[in-house]
Amino acid sequence: MQEITVVKDLLKEITQTLSPHIERASREAQLLLMAHLNVDELWLITHQSEVVQDVDKLLSWVKRREKNEPFEYITNSVSFYSEEFFIKEGALIPRPETEILIDEVIKNVEDKASAITFVEVGIGSGIISIILARHFLNAKFIGVDISQDALDIAKINIGKFGLEKRIELRLGSLLEPIEEDIDYLVSNPPYIADAEVLESNLDYEPQNALFGGLIGDEIIQELLECVLKQKIRFFSCEMGYDQKDKIQRYLKDKKIKSLEFYKDLSDFDRGFTLKA
Ligand SMILES: C[S@@+](CC[C@H](N)C(=O)[O-])C[C@H]1O[C@@H](n2cnc3c(N)ncnc32)[C@H](O)[C@@H]1O
Repeated sequence: MQEITVVKDLLKEITQTLSPHIERASREAQLLLMAHLNVDELWLITHQSEVVQDVDKLLSWVKRREKNEPFEYITNSVSFYSEEFFIKEGALIPRPETEILIDEVIKNVEDKASAITFVEVGIGSGIISIILARHFLNAKFIGVDISQDALDIAKINIGKFGLEKRIELRLGSLLEPIEEDIDYLVSNPPYIADAEVLESNLDYEPQNALFGGLIGDEIIQELLECVLKQKIRFFSCEMGYDQKDKIQRYLKDKKIKSLEFYKDLSDFDRGFTLKA
C-alpha cells in the first residue's frame, strides 16, 4: 500500500485492501479509521481532506483485519449494553444476545436495593457482573473464571467502572472457589459441542470460552447440579438453541419452584431462569 495520508484516500485504499478478505470492506475501513482517530461518523464524512497521523499504526490494524482477526481485538474496545469495555485476546468478545440474560436477571430481582450476593461463573471480560453491579447498587459480586487471562481483562474493566470494592475475582472452576452463600447464580458458560466446526474468525477467541464438552451442555449440567445441591434461589444461564429439551428433562423430577426459558432476537431458545 502506498503512503497516503488524507482521510478520503486512506478510506479508498483500505477498502481495496480489505475487499478480497472480508465482507463490508468499505464500512470496515470507515470503522477502523474512526477508531484510529477516535472520531465519529459525522466527523469522518465532513473531514475527507484531513491529514491522518500515525498511518503506520492504522496500516498494521488493516493487516490484522485482512487476516480476519476480530475488529474488537484490534481496537481493544467493544460496545455492550450501551457501554464501552476493554477487550483483547484472552477473553470472549461479548455477544449482543447476552444483554438479554442481563435483562432476565434484572426482571427477577424486584428490589433494586437488595444486599444480595451474586456469583458469576465464567466472568470473562466482566461485562455481565459490571452491568448488574451498576443496577443493583447494594449487591456484592464474585466472578469466577478458569482463565487468568480473562480475569486480568475483567480486572481492567472493573477498574474502569470503579467497581473494585464490589466485584471480587477468583480463579477456579465452577463453584469450587466459593464458600459464601449464593443468592443469585448467573452464567454465560461455554456451551458449544467440542466437535462443532466454527467460522475461522472464532479461532482468535479462547477455545475454553466456546466449547463446553463432547455434547456441549456439560458445564450447564454441572451448574444445575450445584444449584439444586446448594439450594441456590435463582440461576439464570445462557445456553445453546438446541439445549432446552435436555435441560427440561433433567429437571423434570427435581424439586424446583419454576423454570422459564427465554429466546434471543432471532427467536432461538437462548437461556433460562431456574428458581429452586
Ligand atoms: C462464553 S464465555 C462468557 C464470558 C462473559 N461472561 C461473557 O458473557 O461475555 C465463558 C467463560 O467461562 C470460562 N470458563 C470455562 N470453563 C469454566 C469453568 N469450568 N469454570 C469457570 N469458568 C469457566 C471461560 O474461560 C470464559 O471466560
